[in-house]
Amino acid sequence: MNAGEGSDAFAYVVPDFANPTGETLGETERREILALAAERDMPVIEDSPYEMLRFDGISELPMQALDVEDSGSIDASRVVYCGSFSKVFTPGLRVGWVCASREIISRLTLIKQSSDLNSPAINQRVMLHLARMTYDEQVERACSIYRQKRDAMLSLLGDALPAGSRWTRPDGGMFVWVTLPSEIDTRELLATAGRDYGVAFVPGGAFHADGGGVNTLRLSYTLPTVDQIEVGLQRLGQAISASS
Ligand SMILES: Cc1ncc(COP(=O)(O)O)c(C=O)c1O
Repeated sequence: MNAGEGSDAFAYVVPDFANPTGETLGETERREILALAAERDMPVIEDSPYEMLRFDGISELPMQALDVEDSGSIDASRVVYCGSFSKVFTPGLRVGWVCASREIISRLTLIKQSSDLNSPAINQRVMLHLARMTYDEQVERACSIYRQKRDAMLSLLGDALPAGSRWTRPDGGMFVWVTLPSEIDTRELLATAGRDYGVAFVPGGAFHADGGGVNTLRLSYTLPTVDQIEVGLQRLGQAISASS
């Protein structure tokens, strides 16, 4: 983002199981972004609501942890870490958290107070209670259910999609990012798929600021059952065949 005079206002990064691609940045990439941010003296917003949803492999250290290690303290860190209970417990209570320097937290508190006074205290209390009681079990449960669904989706994509399609293989999170053959416009495909085949997805163009990604789409495997994933992918394949 630019803040006039060509200076960069801040960097915004979703380093774990990103929305929409499902991809995760390794430590080298995290450090490269931090070095670039230090060079340009700009804050980094680390938005990581999917961090706990890791099904395979080893967790990466948050960019904020790397930065605190290098800068010596949270107060010297340029990273603002945003966490959420939405992806592990429920989005309905609207509770998340921010971890940042004391100065940034006190400014954010003022901004939040002037915009909505505060998030409902009862929601925060319920979430605190739930988290104290069952956070670890809930993370495990969510990961185990979502892992099965991700595996089901990945095992079916090859049969459902036309030759020349590619997709990500996320180690966690909620999304698979699909690139279809270049002649397919996923915005047009969505209209047919929804109307005639009863299946929906997010066209990838929605995630491109430059008009690109016309032949890409985002699939989510978390809400549907494994059976629904199977039916949905068959229908998507049929919709693609009918449109080409
Ligand atoms: C990267 C990212 N940040 C934040 C959110 C929203 O989280 P919350 O429900 O805590 O507002 C989402 C959810 O869709 C997301 O994908």
